[in-house]
Amino acid sequence: MPKPAIPRSRILGTGHYLSPVVRTNADLEAMVDTSDAWITERTGIRERHIAPEGIVTSDMAAAAARAALERAAIEASQLDMIMVATVTPDMPMPATAVFVQQKLGAGHCPAFDLSAACAGFLFGLSIADQFIRTGQMKHILVVGVELLSRVLDWTDRSTCVLFGDGAGAAVVGPAQVAGDEARPRGVLSTSIMTDGSLASSLWIPGGGSVSPTTHATVDQKLHYVHMKGQDVFKVAVKNLFSASKDALDRAGMTTADVDWVCAHQANKRIVDQVVARLEVPEEKVLMNIERVGNTSSASIPILLDESLRSGKVKEGDTVLMCALGAGISWGSAIVRV
Ligand code: ACO
Repeated sequence: MPKPAIPRSRILGTGHYLSPVVRTNADLEAMVDTSDAWITERTGIRERHIAPEGIVTSDMAAAAARAALERAAIEASQLDMIMVATVTPDMPMPATAVFVQQKLGAGHCPAFDLSAACAGFLFGLSIADQFIRTGQMKHILVVGVELLSRVLDWTDRSTCVLFGDGAGAAVVGPAQVAGDEARPRGVLSTSIMTDGSLASSLWIPGGGSVSPTTHATVDQKLHYVHMKGQDVFKVAVKNLFSASKDALDRAGMTTADVDWVCAHQANKRIVDQVVARLEVPEEKVLMNIERVGNTSSASIPILLDESLRSGKVKEGDTVLMCALGAGISWGSAIVRV
C-alpha cells in the first residue's frame, strides 16, 4: 500500500532584479583610498549593481517578484502572503511589503517585512515552509531585497566596497509528494538562529529609538552601515558551517547528497573556508560575488535564480543554502528544486 503523501513546500518559481548601472572596482578607486587588487584579493568582488536615482526598494522587489510569479505560473491575486526581507525598506512605516503588494496588484493578504539582514531570505523561506506544510496557506511570496547603496558611507572604504543593490524572489507553494518517492522535490529542511550578543558588530545605529535622526546623528554618520569586519568574518565561517550541518542532519543527508552549495555572497574567502570544512568540491559551489557583491538578503535568491535560469542548476537538484548577517543571524536550508 502506498504511504500517505507528506505535506511539504516547494519553490514554484524564482526571479531577480539587478540594476543595469554597474560600479566597478576601478570606479571605487576614484572615490576612496582603495585598489582593485585589494578588493579582489580580500573579497572576490570586481563589480556591483547600483540602483539609479528614482528606483526604490519596493520597485526592485516587485520586479523580482513579477519574474518569480511568471516562472511559477501564479497570478499575484493568488498570493496568500507577502514577506519582504530587507534592512533597507522604502521607509520605516509601513512595511515595504505593502508597496510590493500594491505594485503587483495583489489582493488582500498579510504583507510584512522581516528583518534578519543577510539571513532574511532563509528566515522567510523557513516561515513560508511552516505555513504551507500546515495547509494554512497555498502561495507565499518571499522576497530578499536591498538598496544598500543608500545606507553606505561612500567615504568609508572598509564598507562601501563590499555591498551592492538587488532583489531576488521565490514563490513558495505546496509540493505534491507521495510518501514513498525516492527523491521528493521541495524544502527538505530549514534551520534559523540568532546570537544577539554580537549585535554591535554590524549595525546601522541611527534612525531608530536609540538615536532618532537629528542633525547630530547625521553629522556622526549613524545612519550608515558600521561593521567590525573581522569579528563578522570569524563567526561567519564557524556558524555557516554548523548551520549547514544542522540543515543536512534535519534532512537526513550528508554533503555527498548535495549537488550545489548556494551560500550568501559576502566574501569569497568566507565561502571558500565554509565549503572546505564541509568537504564540498569547488565545482559544486555557486558563485556570483565577482559581478554582484554582497546584496545581503537578496544574495541567495539572486544566485539561485541566475543558476536556475542558466540551466546550471536543474530540476531535481539538491541545493544547500546558507547565509549569515547582522544580528548576528544565520540560517540554512536544503531544497530540492
Ligand atoms: N581598500 C584598501 N584597504 C582597505 C580597505 C579597502 N577597501 N578596507 C580596509 N582596508 C585596510 C584596513 O584599513 C587595514 O589596513 P591596516 O592593516 O593598515 O590597518 C587592512 O586593509 C586590513 O583590514 P581588515 O579589516 O583586517 O581586512 P580583512 O582581511 O578582514 O577584510 C573584510 C575586511 C573584507 C570586511 C572582511 O573582514 C569580511 O568580509 N568580513 C565579513 C563581512 C560579512 O560577512 N558581513 C556579513 C554580511 S553583511 C550584512 O549582514 C548586511
